[in-house]
Amino acid sequence: MIKYSCMIQYKLAKPFLKWAGGKSQLLAQFEKFYPTLLKENRIDYYFEPFLGGGAVFFDIIQKYDIKKAYLIDINEDLILTYLVIQNHVYDLIKTLRELESQYKKLSQEKRKHFYYMIRDAYNEKKPYINYNKFHPDWIERSAQMIFLNKTCYNGLYRLNSSGEFNSPAGNYKNPTILDEENLIHASQVLEKAEIFCNSYKIVLKLIKKNSFVYFDPPYRPISNSANFVKYTQFGFTEEDQKELANIYKILDKKNIYLMLSNSDPKDKFFEHLYHGYYINKINANRMINCQGDKRGKIQEIIVTNYAI
Ligand SMILES: C[S@@+](CC[C@H](N)C(=O)[O-])C[C@H]1O[C@@H](n2cnc3c(N)ncnc32)[C@H](O)[C@@H]1O
Repeated sequence: MIKYSCMIQYKLAKPFLKWAGGKSQLLAQFEKFYPTLLKENRIDYYFEPFLGGGAVFFDIIQKYDIKKAYLIDINEDLILTYLVIQNHVYDLIKTLRELESQYKKLSQEKRKHFYYMIRDAYNEKKPYINYNKFHPDWIERSAQMIFLNKTCYNGLYRLNSSGEFNSPAGNYKNPTILDEENLIHASQVLEKAEIFCNSYKIVLKLIKKNSFVYFDPPYRPISNSANFVKYTQFGFTEEDQKELANIYKILDKKNIYLMLSNSDPKDKFFEHLYHGYYINKINANRMINCQGDKRGKIQEIIVTNYAI
């Protein structure tokens, strides 16, 4: 007699936004580079100072026994959305459901108008948002953020130099705007997190013994022509990459486990910057270029301060 085992498929929380440089596709490769101590559940704290969509956070927090995660990003609207999901997920779901049903009733042409109407409202409201303290306006804003992310062209968050969201409308038949189950799971997982809208440098103040830090800064452009996505109106310069390397070294001296990823510019820039550390390369099918046909296999470097 064949015995069928009853496998309960418990869906894991995953990133609720599509984010440029998101690491969801690379998790299987990344796992090999996580510290052994983390895999043995002997790391207490996890830090992710360039959070974005948080693919690595969602992976680690649901696999290993972490006491607390510290999540940091400089993008105010991204962090506002995380905070709403952490603390007001059911209000968000209600608002997003309403937006979704309004949008899905419309013809393809009218959906475009609706998208631009929401995008204008989102940009016009920005100067009036108090990002430091919760206000009921945050619910609508986070719903608009998710709506725009799910319906814009290529699903990529892009800002112009004045800090306005400027991605054009996408052309989807039936986009999933509200993924209720995932938002609820994400909210539960975020109970273990402290979330900060700040520069990554705050990690120096927050760091604790027995921590693992994963750095995923904005990519150093591979070439001058590469389409470089701006997550904030400020960008991330070569000087910023150097300053980050110094912070990496300070944390290394404190015996913190460190992993950092970036694109491989093939000019040995990172080999010089992280000389003396372990530099590994993996293949990445990166989605950074908005022209679909120019997405190719690009190498990504992973720098760790521990042997694999
Ligand atoms: C490559 S993305 C991270 C992607 C993320 N690992 C994921 O899976 O989606 C880089 C992130 O760094 C953030 N960022 C840029 N400059 C920053 C700074 N100075 N301090 C903290 N975060 C910053 C951007 O807002 C962006 O979300």
